[in-house]
Amino acid sequence: MNPVLEAIPGSLIRALNALKRPGDIDLGMGEPTIRPALRPFELAAAQIAAHGCPYTPNAGDPALRAAIAARYACRPEQVCVTVGSQEALWLAIKAMLDPAADELLIISPAYPAYAKIAQLEGVACREVGLDPATGFAPDAARVLAAIGPRTRMVLLATPANPTGRVWPDDQLDRLAEGLQALGDARPWVLVDEVYRELVYLTPRPRPFAARYDRTLVTNSLSKSHALTGLRLGWLLGPEAAIAAAVKAHQFVNTAASTFSQHVAHAIMTGDEPLDAQRPHYEAQRAALLAQLASLGLRHVPPDGAFYCMVQLPDRWAADSVACAHALLDAERVVTVPGAAFGAEGWLRLSWVAERAQLAAGLDRVARFLRG
Ligand SMILES: Cc1ncc(COP(=O)(O)O)c(C=O)c1O
Repeated sequence: MNPVLEAIPGSLIRALNALKRPGDIDLGMGEPTIRPALRPFELAAAQIAAHGCPYTPNAGDPALRAAIAARYACRPEQVCVTVGSQEALWLAIKAMLDPAADELLIISPAYPAYAKIAQLEGVACREVGLDPATGFAPDAARVLAAIGPRTRMVLLATPANPTGRVWPDDQLDRLAEGLQALGDARPWVLVDEVYRELVYLTPRPRPFAARYDRTLVTNSLSKSHALTGLRLGWLLGPEAAIAAAVKAHQFVNTAASTFSQHVAHAIMTGDEPLDAQRPHYEAQRAALLAQLASLGLRHVPPDGAFYCMVQLPDRWAADSVACAHALLDAERVVTVPGAAFGAEGWLRLSWVAERAQLAAGLDRVARFLRG
């Protein structure tokens, strides 16, 4: 066995989810529950009927690369089509960081896979924590102060999982300016934009890539289109970085699924805006916030994505894992302990559940925490 792999603990999110019994309310997994449109699948099936299902080029179907490039106003050579954004995150770390010398800086609370991918690759990683007292507000000064001589990549998620915070324009500007001032030593910024289409602030901030040259971006259709199982994402960046990523991608995956790429092509060239599902989440969010206010639960109102951090009362503040387990036992509601993300003292609620389930789940969480 690989000792590096053995040393990495399994996913707390999936561990709790595995305990879910029939009838339990799921406020745990970040898995959209709305049904995706079927038309892109019909168009993809027609492509397969006409042309079979061969491999595409490693970096992706040229038509899909062009369609993604058009959406991002970049060149097709700046796009690598991947197996979800999870693979894109791995590719960026694999391609750009030297395990012997470089360090990844993670802004926490953070999606747990970032650190685990780095560990898997033998890349050192360090965390810079946002302040819980501000509701984990994006803070460029904190991030800049944490950059060390070995920091070669900063991982920025906006909207962020688990906090739902979105980096506003002024903080993105400050971060870009501060990094640019580092000259040749300036690190890469890997921006996880998997929740890009689910931003509830108006106006929406401009993307970070427009402000900083050494930017890589990951995204997928998983969250915006309720297509987690399609496993279709992409990595964007300067051509040389993408060429390096494609090299790693081809040895592991050859290419993303041809069928999934056809589905993605139909979506990316279709008439619907990419954020067509956003109104659904806006309505969910409004219901969530109204109920949280009436229940008196202390929380961070999400600017984006579909998570909400709830602050635990003192008796649970030191052990969110025990709290999530006790909550599941007592009230049959699945949640995710903040400890999974480096946010002890908090509980992450996912609010994708059907409305009545969400309302019942929130009532039960409040009853338990008041307990
Ligand atoms: C912040 C974040 N990044 C990346 C992913 C990976 O998503 P996918 O590989 O389905 O695109 C997830 C999934 O939950 C996520 O929450």
